[in-house]
Amino acid sequence: MVEATPELPFLIGPTQPVSALQMLRSATAMQHKALEARLPLTHADLDRALYTKIIAAYYGFHVPLQRHLECFLSPLTTDPERYKVPALVKDLRALGLSDGQIETLPLCSALPALQTHGHLLGIMYVMEGATLGGQVLRRIIADRLGIDAESGGEFLDVYGRDTGRLWKAFLKQLADFEHPAYNGEVVDAACATFACFERWLDRAGVLL
Ligand code: HEM
Repeated sequence: MVEATPELPFLIGPTQPVSALQMLRSATAMQHKALEARLPLTHADLDRALYTKIIAAYYGFHVPLQRHLECFLSPLTTDPERYKVPALVKDLRALGLSDGQIETLPLCSALPALQTHGHLLGIMYVMEGATLGGQVLRRIIADRLGIDAESGGEFLDVYGRDTGRLWKAFLKQLADFEHPAYNGEVVDAACATFACFERWLDRAGVLL
């Protein structure tokens, strides 16, 4: 008689394979939680000056990241619909910075490695996923600081009513690429992206 043992799970019954998205969510959950707690966007003492400093730090990460992604040619990264830098520039101008001040803002040089399509998807998961949280944050910023898309809050609502559509399109790209052999590099790149972004925001002095 053959006994099912824990070492032979396939004898007990079929197991559901873990999707890349599930892996990404569980691998980055703690990093997301930690960053959310340290980023003062939802904190009661957030004021216009600190908000401006945060948007400037976001600019300092997104500008070099966008260049990094463009060097790795892909329809996902060359799609102008997903460009976020113009929204950051618009916000910084609305918040009172001159073009000269914007051009001299410090830029991050410690970016996540990008050598494979798997890395690209991991990086994109973090930056595209952040647009979902942006939907919550834009309401908080409007309530607390009276800032809307025209007065400095465009980035938090960068895709506007297309947020859901673009997120679903990204998830489809992730699912189409999905292969157990590559999921590890997608997850590693997502974790590295969270880590690089947090380190950059910390250096910029905007984290609690
Ligand atoms: C105070 C800051 C933040 C808050 C309050 C926040 C909040 C949220 C919320 C509510 C969601 C879920 C939205 C939904 O399912 O519709 C979400 C998703 C997400 N956020 Fe954030 N977020 C913050 C900062 C960030 C940052 C800085 C990043 C990365 C740069 C980030 C990356 C993500 C990702 C990747 C997801 C997608 C998770 C998934 O559905 O797989 N978030 N966030």
